[in-house]
Amino acid sequence: MATKKQKKAKAASKKAARKVVKLAAARKTKNKINGKNNGLPRVSSKPYGQDGKALTGVRILDFTHVQSGPTCTQLLAWLGADVIKVERPGIGDITRGQLVDVKGADSLYFTMLNHNKRSITIDSKHPQGKRVLDELIKVCDVLVENFAPGALDRMGLTWEYIHKVNPRMIVASVKGFGPGPYEDCKVYENVAQCAGGSASTTGFREGPPLVTGAQIGDSGTGLHLALGIVSALYQRNRTGRGQKVLAAMQDGVLNLCRVKLRDQQRLKAGPLTEYSQYGENIPFADSVPRAGNDSGGGQPGWILKCKGWETDPDAYIYFITQAPVWAEICDLIGEPSWKTDAEYATPRARLPKLKAIFARIEQWTMTMSKFEVMEICNKVDIPVGPILSMKEIAEEPSLRKTGTVVEVDHPTRGKYLSVGNPIKLSDSISEVRRSPLLGEHTDEILKDVLKLSSKDITEIKNSGALSAPKKEEKAA
Ligand code: COA
Repeated sequence: MATKKQKKAKAASKKAARKVVKLAAARKTKNKINGKNNGLPRVSSKPYGQDGKALTGVRILDFTHVQSGPTCTQLLAWLGADVIKVERPGIGDITRGQLVDVKGADSLYFTMLNHNKRSITIDSKHPQGKRVLDELIKVCDVLVENFAPGALDRMGLTWEYIHKVNPRMIVASVKGFGPGPYEDCKVYENVAQCAGGSASTTGFREGPPLVTGAQIGDSGTGLHLALGIVSALYQRNRTGRGQKVLAAMQDGVLNLCRVKLRDQQRLKAGPLTEYSQYGENIPFADSVPRAGNDSGGGQPGWILKCKGWETDPDAYIYFITQAPVWAEICDLIGEPSWKTDAEYATPRARLPKLKAIFARIEQWTMTMSKFEVMEICNKVDIPVGPILSMKEIAEEPSLRKTGTVVEVDHPTRGKYLSVGNPIKLSDSISEVRRSPLLGEHTDEILKDVLKLSSKDITEIKNSGALSAPKKEEKAA
């Protein structure tokens, strides 16, 4: 028979055990919330935007030049990567001196594609320069380049070599074409637009092929490459090794033109009814024609004149006759009978008459400015888009507010406008820093990134690996 004292002790121990179980359960819940339970990292307690950036800790060896590669590395820099731009001593990225508007200053072509980067000058063909590059390869995560095919290999930086020096290194390249008959060709923007199917499908039927103002070959491929790099970094978390990433400009343009390859295949099933040439009774040939301003989807659209079009080249609006708002369109333009008239009431009935219908809508849009048309149409959910000039975009307050258009200060050219990061992350907020001057961070990178001593730095500098050959040497 247990004594009173023993009973009390037993009850106390039961109580303690219950407390332990309760505490453990509480800890389990807390860990679950923090992600520890599944081996996941902690959840930051810092406010959004104050715990580093998405790519903090990623270091990029940036061998890019002109537009396609720099677009990619600029995006990665905005997302937090440390981008070290390697440039040829004395010359740098060729765009520094192209389309110059302020004498003696880096061009807008360069500054607008190289924000948030550091610049080091290295002659990659000099033996000491190669040694510096080897050291950089060891401490970087990604090498990005867009040289002409074979140029990186000629520097001795083959994939096999780089992978041996740093098996974790991702080597990302933009080339004009993927493997095939044109793989050795040098390629610029408009070559890619033509070879990727954009030019043959842009413009008016009766005119020649057209290239677009949007740099879909260069900047578009840079975007594709950036996604490839981030994916390779993610896979490296699992495999521990780097890989090659290739974005060919022809492929990138074709990817952006995929609706046209869709239409190519639809041609076998008959005419493309949403193309205005169908309504005009013009037969289709065996490849996708240029569609002028026809919409690429199932809802017909066209560019219409607005008030002032006679003198203002941008007094136009894109107008979409979306089926669900057909009644609202009829009311606005003063043709209420078209809502019920069998000749107009259905999308199918309207197809052969689109030209005439848009001409009637244009009579209405021409009575107002593009912004007035937009205001009226938006109220009743009719999708329209004003044709905005670059001047209007540059002055648009809402774009300034979101950081899509930013003013940047530069030591040699002063203030200029740029396009900021178009991708907004709530916990990785981009700020736009000016582009580097040629070789501005050479010393800093040798000292802080490569941890070289002053003696080593002086020795490398004296070897000539980081500076342009003297004029006499050049002439010799
Ligand atoms: N130190 C020493 N040499 C350097 C150097 C450095 N830091 N940086 C570049 N070079 C050398 C290269 O090694 C190459 O020399 P090589 O051909 O004698 O081996 C040379 O500079 C020129 O490189 P290249 O890429 O051929 O430049 P380019 O001006 O003749 O051609 C392009 C420019 C854009 C046509 C070409 O680079 C290309 O087709 N790139 C791929 C597609 C692309 O990105 N196009 C879009 C550009 S926006």
